[in-house]
Parts: sequence; structure tokens; C-alpha cells
Amino acid sequence: MKRSVITGVGRFLPERIVTNEELSNLFDTTPEWIVERTGIQERRFFDPDKDTVASMAASASRMAMEQAGITNPKEIDFIVFATITPDYFFPGSGVLMQRELGMEGIGALDLRNACSGFIYALSVADNFIKTGMYKKILVVGAEIQTSAMELSDRGRNIAVIFGDGAGAVVLEAAEADDKAGILSTHLYADGTYAEELYIKDPGSSRHKKYTAEMLTGESVLPYMNGNAVFKHAIVRFSQAINDALNHNGLTKDDIDLLIPHQANLRISNYLKDHLKLTDDQVFNNIMHYGNTTAASIPIAMSEAIEKGKLKSGDLLCVAAFGSGFTWASSLIRMR
Ligand code: UT7
Repeated sequence: MKRSVITGVGRFLPERIVTNEELSNLFDTTPEWIVERTGIQERRFFDPDKDTVASMAASASRMAMEQAGITNPKEIDFIVFATITPDYFFPGSGVLMQRELGMEGIGALDLRNACSGFIYALSVADNFIKTGMYKKILVVGAEIQTSAMELSDRGRNIAVIFGDGAGAVVLEAAEADDKAGILSTHLYADGTYAEELYIKDPGSSRHKKYTAEMLTGESVLPYMNGNAVFKHAIVRFSQAINDALNHNGLTKDDIDLLIPHQANLRISNYLKDHLKLTDDQVFNNIMHYGNTTAASIPIAMSEAIEKGKLKSGDLLCVAAFGSGFTWASSLIRMR
């Protein structure tokens, strides 16, 4: 059986930086509250005249391919695209990015597993490579979330946290005895809590037809029971990380770097303390980008590599938790 190795990582962040000060002029919050409760100092908002989910993903993918030494995008033979904010209701953004990169013909699979989306996508790609079905896969996480936000008192618990961005990795087939590569992926879900973090409409059921009233109502806005999400997240993140370590006969001391999905700095800090990791073992960039859902892990990987925090031979642990609820983890030996 083949093994899959990450050979390139890329990211794209829209230019517009929105500070906590700017948000506090729009609704009832303070920069101090946002920093204390989330760790976020600023986030990026997309430019509707320029950025699409597919275009941001294409930029991140170009960077990942360049790092992987892929000069012709046609070398890629499959796309797995994670987003909960596709450009169209359908088709998914995977085909749009494929068109933009000139890779017509190859398969493009869209996944909508929210904050766990990137690890779910990685797991699917890893298994396609292991079976020998594909050799070079682009695995993407990209989101434009700020267009669904309401910058008002009513929408503030969402508006302070989420941001826009895209990240991508190139996953390539390697021989089974290669030391680098994905050691394992672990995926979980519990639909009991589906309505604790969701956007209800425009859903296909409950309405005979879409109505103007529905489309301008509260049901098209994201809803999050922040406390419930937080409490489940800290338990599930830890469980997923421990499962990955146990599965590979490793301990937390073997982890060179943990990149938790950037949900809230308090969640990352809880994990660091709970798992007794050092500051150097955990990478966070939520301070600058907020929570970018499926994009947060590949964006953080890309930055960690650039800052020299994630190096060849390192054991990387990634873990995520989010809407569904879904949660996931993976252990990766960097090439
Ligand atoms: O990516 C996965 C999905 N999301 C997450 O993982 C997010 C998980 N949850 C969280 O990050 C946190 O629950 C939040 C950041 C959303 C909220 O923080 P919290 O510490 O759970 O705050 P809270 O909802 O318990 O509210 C505490 C207080 C309340 O005031 P009182 O009742 O104590 O007087 C809120 O009204 O803070 C108030 N509050 C705010 N104040 C200023 C809530 N939101 C805000 C706000 N600005 N944006």
C-alpha cells in the first residue's frame, strides 16, 4: 500500500484587515471583551469585487503547488474541497477552482464538514492515495463567512469570531516505507447537536417554496450556542488527539507541533494545559485571522512552515471540532 506525503502547503488571506476597534464601532462590544474571550485581535474580510471562495482557494493551491515543485497543474489528478460557504448553492466550489486552475477533467469532491472539513478532506485524499487510485491530490479548505454575518448586536457572537481565508496542501503518493507522511486520520460526528451551530435556511425542507420573508429573516443567519460548542470542543479535541496518539503508539511528548483548528485561543490554551504541552508545541494564529473554519488548519500549517516552527521530520498533530458536531484529528510526519 502507498503512503501519502504532504509536499506543498499554501494560503491566501484577503487584504482587508478588520480590527476589534472597527467592530466595536458597529455593535455593542469592546476590543477588550473580544481579546479576553477569544484571543482575536483582527480578522480578514473578503472583497466582493475581487475575491471568491474558488479564487482564494486557487491562490492558496498555486502556492502549495509551487512549494511541491508542480509547474503544470495538470499533474494534479484529484481535488478534495472543504467549505461550508460555497460560491453557489450548487455546484460546489471544487469545480470552480478546477476551472480557474485549468485542470478540467479531473474529479472534484466537495465536503461540508465545517471546522473539521479540512481533516475530513485530508482523510479522504489520504485513502484515495493509499489505495493507488490517485497520485497527486489538492486538499483545500476555503471560506467566505463574512457575507453571512450580521454586523449588529443580534449577530455579534458570530461576527467577533469568524473571518475569511483559504489554505491548501498537495498530497502525493510515496512508497510504503517512506518515513514521512500521514500516519493516521480519525473522524467523528454526533448529529445530536446539529442545531447548536448552524444556518437553518435556505434549507430544502420545512418550506413549500422559498419566500422573501424567509430569505430576509433570522433563519438565514448563522446561529451558535457558544457555551455548548465550547464545552463539547474541549472534551472532543482532547479525545481526538489522544486517539491519534494511542493508535500510533505515541505520546504527547512525541508531538513537535500541535495545530488545533483556530476556534478560540482559550480552547487552544486549554488543550495546551490539559495535554501538558509547552508553548513551542502549539501553533496559533487566530489573533490575526479569527476562525476561518475549514481554512484555519492549512493556513496555520503554511505560516508555521514559513516561521520555521514546522520543519522536515517533525511530527505534526492537527485536530478540529465544529458544527455537526464533527471532530477529527491526524498525525503527520513532515517531509
Ligand atoms: O469553530 C468551532 C465553532 N465555534 C467555537 O468553537 C466557538 C466556541 N465558543 C466560544 O468561543 C465562546 O462561547 C464565545 C466567544 C462565542 C462566547 O464567549 P463566552 O465566554 O462563552 O461568553 P458568553 O456567551 O457566556 O457571554 C458572557 C457575557 C454575557 O454577558 P452577561 O450575561 O455575563 O452580562 C454576554 O452577553 O458576555 C456577553 N457577550 C458579549 N459582550 C461583548 C457575548 N458576546 C459578546 C460580545 N461582546 N461579542
